[in-house]
Amino acid sequence: MTRRVLFVCLGNICRSPAAENIFRSFVSDKSQDNAIEIDSCGTANYHEGKNPDSRMRQALQSRGYADEGRARQITEHDFTYYDLIVPMDRDNQNHLYALVKDQRERSKVRLFSDFLPNYQPIDIPDPYYGGSDGFLEVIALLEAGCPALLSELIPDRSR
Ligand code: 4NP
Repeated sequence: MTRRVLFVCLGNICRSPAAENIFRSFVSDKSQDNAIEIDSCGTANYHEGKNPDSRMRQALQSRGYADEGRARQITEHDFTYYDLIVPMDRDNQNHLYALVKDQRERSKVRLFSDFLPNYQPIDIPDPYYGGSDGFLEVIALLEAGCPALLSELIPDRSR
């Protein structure tokens, strides 16, 4: 049975497409790529149709990751289709909570930091207005959450 995870940030050009590419690489290395479907989106539509931010693309490439993606905004359908919906920070989590139709949809929303060792930091920092270090910091945090995220999706086989 395929499990489906959707990463969510504000613009879908920095953090969530990075999460998508990094987690895809992680599950592929564990030979779990047929079992998990991965996508990302934004709560906003400012960058609809755009590729990831060039600074994030460069940071992803420098760490050996794919840099794919086309920004899109979250839809009602996403809340039924995906098993796990993972916002990067509490602002986006609250935005998602405002969109859910019922408790079942709400229970799918899990902050990315739930999967970080020691749950730190609570928010994956928005790198958009900062320097290049911020993009590499985001990548390191996203990498740190991959093992627990895989365990959540496929409890038996991931560790
Ligand atoms: P993201 O970063 O939410 O990680 O994709 C941002 C992208 C764009 C903007 C803010 C954050 N913006 O204000 O346009």
